Amino acid sequence: MIVRFLPFPSSHHWNYYSKFHLPNPNKPPIKFKSKCFLNPTHILSSSSSSSSPRVFVISDLHTDYSENMSWINSLSTHQYQKDVLLVPGDVAETYNNFISTMSLLKHRFQHVFYVPGNHDLWCRHHPDNTYTDSIEKMYQLLDACKRLGIKTSPEIIDGIGIIPLFSWYHESFDTEKDITSIRIPSLEMACKDFHACKWPRELSSRDLSLALYFDAMNEEIYEQIKEIQSVCRQIISFSHFLPRQELCPEKRMLFYPNLPKIIGSNYLENRIRSIHGDFGSKSACHLFGHTHFCWDAVLDGIRYVQAPLAYPKERKRRMNGGENWLPFCIYANGGLTGKEKGKEPKTDIHTLLYYLKRRRRRQQQQQQQQQGTSS
Ligand SMILES: [Fe+2]
Repeated sequence: MIVRFLPFPSSHHWNYYSKFHLPNPNKPPIKFKSKCFLNPTHILSSSSSSSSPRVFVISDLHTDYSENMSWINSLSTHQYQKDVLLVPGDVAETYNNFISTMSLLKHRFQHVFYVPGNHDLWCRHHPDNTYTDSIEKMYQLLDACKRLGIKTSPEIIDGIGIIPLFSWYHESFDTEKDITSIRIPSLEMACKDFHACKWPRELSSRDLSLALYFDAMNEEIYEQIKEIQSVCRQIISFSHFLPRQELCPEKRMLFYPNLPKIIGSNYLENRIRSIHGDFGSKSACHLFGHTHFCWDAVLDGIRYVQAPLAYPKERKRRMNGGENWLPFCIYANGGLTGKEKGKEPKTDIHTLLYYLKRRRRRQQQQQQQQQGTSS
């Protein structure tokens, strides 16, 4: 996720929308490029004769930073040869860096899965108009993945169902009361997506249309998901964006308090619940990225994890635990990691201690109300 403060623009940029607009029914419907999905491929890993493969995750690689590309290059070329890597978006802004990164990863892991993030769809630095818009760029990236052997649709690897989910954020995802005591830059000023992404005229960042468009892409994998649900005891889904606001710190703790308006999708959470169930299960797991906050939490029976490489300066500040624990192993020895009974979680994720020590105000208020009612 990139949230930078741009120089203050002219005053009309401050007049950003405060309410949400439904997609215009008069606009022609956007057409999806059909990927002709059938049933999910069942793949037996080369490790199947001895043990099930491990599943790793790392998001937000941002290899346009040379330090990050070097980090990827320094990953072992033999340690993960039987393993699976899930990449929940934001690999690189430029096409060449994207290809280089994914090639390096495919050389190191047996299976690599990917879903696009917002940075991947930026159309800057392409002066020859390589892409009509960000949608066209996305399909070029997906085509490139296919050529490289990177997976972008559901598959079953040694009995583990892996489900990539497409998504985009919408402002109404944010239900926390706005902070009004300080002047906060508009979304256009703080978020480069509003300048670097190019959308067909039917799609906009300021209504639900983008979130609906990307969510509808998941309709194409409906049959594959049903097949995975019927045969897999372990399912891991992943997306770039956040499915729940609880997976981001409260506004009072954020450098940019309006961040929740540009990070998540309610439609995504609905998809995840349709996969893992309303109450989840012991094996239910969803991975995400985008905000660069390390996260590992169980909400309503689903384990949600973020493990970002993030920007070099963020790693130097160790705001996300540095880089020595990445890529993060989420599945090994036939189960999710950090779930062994009687043992401390094995995860190296630096959870937000401040957040853990201080429950959300809403939770505190609810608890106080309940205590008041019962006393
Ligand atoms: Fe992102």
